[in-house]
Amino acid sequence: MTAKIEIVGPQRINGTVHISGAKNAALPLLAASLLSDDSLTLKNVSPLVDVKTMLNLLEELGAVPHITSDSLDFQTISLKTDSIDNFTAPYEIVKKMRASILILGPLLSRFGMCMVSLPGGCSIGVRPIDLHLKGMQALGANVDLRDGYVHASAPHGLKGAEIDFPIVTVTGTENVMMAAVLASGTTVLKNAAREPEIVDLANCLNKMGADISGHGTSTIVINGVNSLHHTEHSVIPDRIEAGTYAIAAGITNGCVNLIGGDFRSLLPSFVEKMEQVGLIFTDIDNGLRVESSGHIAPVDIQTESYPGFPTDLQAQTMALLCLADGESNIQENIWENRFMHVAELSRMGANIEIHNAHAKIIGVNGLKGAPVMATDLRASSSLVLSALAANGKTVIDRVYHLDRGYSCVKEKLAGCGVVIDRIQ
Ligand code: UD1
Repeated sequence: MTAKIEIVGPQRINGTVHISGAKNAALPLLAASLLSDDSLTLKNVSPLVDVKTMLNLLEELGAVPHITSDSLDFQTISLKTDSIDNFTAPYEIVKKMRASILILGPLLSRFGMCMVSLPGGCSIGVRPIDLHLKGMQALGANVDLRDGYVHASAPHGLKGAEIDFPIVTVTGTENVMMAAVLASGTTVLKNAAREPEIVDLANCLNKMGADISGHGTSTIVINGVNSLHHTEHSVIPDRIEAGTYAIAAGITNGCVNLIGGDFRSLLPSFVEKMEQVGLIFTDIDNGLRVESSGHIAPVDIQTESYPGFPTDLQAQTMALLCLADGESNIQENIWENRFMHVAELSRMGANIEIHNAHAKIIGVNGLKGAPVMATDLRASSSLVLSALAANGKTVIDRVYHLDRGYSCVKEKLAGCGVVIDRIQ
């Protein structure tokens, strides 16, 4: 039996949530440890399932992690990577987490070889890695696809190059940036992703001795260096977790203090759209207070790469707009199959029509509890949010999706007066 969450609504969130370290920053940072034979210490790492999967992968390669728990939700991880003796990411790990591809750049750069299993199908859409591979080839690597594996090698090292990404890719930018760090000469990445998680990775790499500039803009310049050294780095807060709890305030007519970072600049378009919806944001010490105005106005949204509206908050926002006073529209521009939560929200009484990558959401007066199934990470949090607002009992199946990206949900909500039950 898979774990389930049971929620009896309606409930109101009222309190303070300490936002964890960002999953999408921690994963590339953990992979970056492979670039040096000196250790890397990462603070503020959230104990998420995806983080554990990346640690398993690094251990499989020969890395030795030392983990200390600062609290239930905050860990410090030191990685020793001086005895890496395996260069393969096996299918068993890649199928659980596609971000496993992030070891490709660091291993190629430091050891001149890497094999990664090809990722299989994915629930939110085809997730190709062609741009990662083209980037490595541009840096001089030989790349072969054989027996379900990417075989990449650069026996004489990588060489800097100019790479113009045809579309913006977050992990693609991170992977090629890490590969270029130890390459000879200068690499210029054009149309690079500008996400805060890329900036965090580049800042950490620079502390390790890399020479990267332009991160946070669409042109990143990397001057290759010979080696990297030890550093200590604190992972930035998880803007998607912060956005999810902000929506909890909106959907439950409540109020939440999000603590741990400058969430206005981490989520510029999200905050702007949520202000149009009627949420009230107030700057507080080391965070942001989010309060419901008691009214949910409809709004039109399209997902884009940073600083646009994040696709990783699309499902949660849709849950909120189901209760808006009128018609909203969402255009999903990043992933082609990211509306699987729609069928589940409809089971709770939502009125949503889908045409390809476009969803029309006609606000209803209320949602009702129902048995539903989580289909992917962010879809699962949209169901938790709807269940908090719905009348009656909702049982959410397959919450292992939630555990990939949200830690201590039950505890964090309990701290804000909200009760959810986990059934194993
Ligand atoms: C990252 C995030 C994920 C988020 C996504 C978009 C991590 C670990 N995950 O995923 O949570 O939803 O950014 O913000 O940071 N593409 C190609 N070829 C490639 C790579 C990507 O065609 O080689 C396409 C994808 O199909 C997609 C688009 O580019 O349509 C953006 O994908 P990308 O930014 O690469 O997503 P991820 O880095 O996998």
